[in-house]
Amino acid sequence: MTQLWTERYRPKKVGEVVGNPESVKAFVEWMKSWEIGKPIKKAALLYGPAGVGKTSLALAYAKEYGYDIVEVNASDWRNEEKMKAVVGESSHYASLEGSSKKMILVDEVDGVAGREDAGGLSALRKIINETRVPIVMVANNPWDQRLAPIREQSLMIEFKRLNKTTIIKRLKEICEKEKISVSETVLSKLAERSEGDLRSAIMDLQAVAAGKPVVTEKDLEVLGVRNRVREIFEALRYIFYAKSVRSARAALEGLDLDPETIYTWILDNAPTQITEPDELAEAMNILAKADMVLVRINKLQMWRLMKYAIPLMTGGVSVVRKTPPKGFQKFTFPPKIRLMQQFKTEREFRQNISLKIASKLHLSAYKANKDVLPYVGFIIAREDKSRHSLSQYFEFTNEEIEYLKRAYGEVKEGREAVEEKKEKPVQQKKKKTGFLS
Ligand SMILES: Nc1ncnc2c1ncn2[C@@H]1O[C@H](COP(=O)(O)OP(=O)(O)OP(=O)(O)O)[C@@H](O)[C@H]1O
Ligand SMILES: [Mg+2]
Repeated sequence: MTQLWTERYRPKKVGEVVGNPESVKAFVEWMKSWEIGKPIKKAALLYGPAGVGKTSLALAYAKEYGYDIVEVNASDWRNEEKMKAVVGESSHYASLEGSSKKMILVDEVDGVAGREDAGGLSALRKIINETRVPIVMVANNPWDQRLAPIREQSLMIEFKRLNKTTIIKRLKEICEKEKISVSETVLSKLAERSEGDLRSAIMDLQAVAAGKPVVTEKDLEVLGVRNRVREIFEALRYIFYAKSVRSARAALEGLDLDPETIYTWILDNAPTQITEPDELAEAMNILAKADMVLVRINKLQMWRLMKYAIPLMTGGVSVVRKTPPKGFQKFTFPPKIRLMQQFKTEREFRQNISLKIASKLHLSAYKANKDVLPYVGFIIAREDKSRHSLSQYFEFTNEEIEYLKRAYGEVKEGREAVEEKKEKPVQQKKKKTGFLS
């Protein structure tokens, strides 16, 4: 495996962009209006759900018709100065030089609005007014109040989720090129899971199929627990209400948070979830032990100890709680500052990894972290040790690879745990968690 399939099969021509034919047509017409010197509008705003081909369409058009893309990521937009340096200059440059065609791509423009980066937005408005080259903006949600002026300046092009048939067809083409045999049922299930998001369908396909000539329905099981969006609240409910260590631990599968962050969530929520003082005391005791292990892991880079820390902080807590609280107790968000101070290294790891992914995949670091990092981690955790080619592609360091393996390895164990419906008797569970006492 040398590359992510989403990149390998990113459309190289407009004709390869599947679905949303009217949006594709509107975009092409807008670009053509530039070519005849009478742009309909100075900017186009391509918006809609993730993974449907918005960025791909802009890239494919540029490639096919010979445009150089000047890409500005929302995260680059700290201030007006920087914006001008990147976007302003190139829009003038193109008008002076004239020979090479340029397209400015402002991906994930909604990220700018979200960050209250007013300077960035007003600079963008100015640039749209002055530009001599097409400005293509992409967003998932363009309806933020702060984007209103920009919406007015732009040709709004909506993209919708792709339908199942379109996704199946595309997956089938990829399977043919990768020379893997996958049944219609499997493809259909993958398409269903993706909810119209082709990027995640392709990533799921690669996760189950990489290195196998034949993919069966059984191979899909590995995806079962990696729900697309696993919310921490859901996981907490799972942990606090679980009846066995194994099922509590399985709550973390598919949750895109590092163990230390999860630890904080559990710690901060324990007092409201465990109402009996004796039980709470015992839970705190167990969490203190988990904390000791986590500290040791971080200090000595002993990732393998994670297999003790996680059962302690999840299962350990769930088994000591014998008295459920009266009525539903809301889970609360841990004070942010605590998170920030405690988990700097972990965050830095993720941040660096996300930045590397973002730079290769035309994504913001935020999206790389949220949507792609778990997949990459999953694949790398299972990568052939002698090759590490995907790691090479992203230029990860050995430590980063280790981190990914620790965070995303051993899914199989988790899956089996989830499937295990039988609850173990409390006695046995206690023995498991009490290994440090
Ligand atoms: N319409 C499509 N046609 C062909 N491939 C697609 C399409 N949509 C998505 N893909 C595949 O998924 C990957 C991601 O697509 P893309 O980056 O265009 O999504 P997006 O709509 O910009 O999503 P986001 O809003 O998350 O940025 C592409 O590299 C490609 O492999
Ligand atoms: Mg995009």
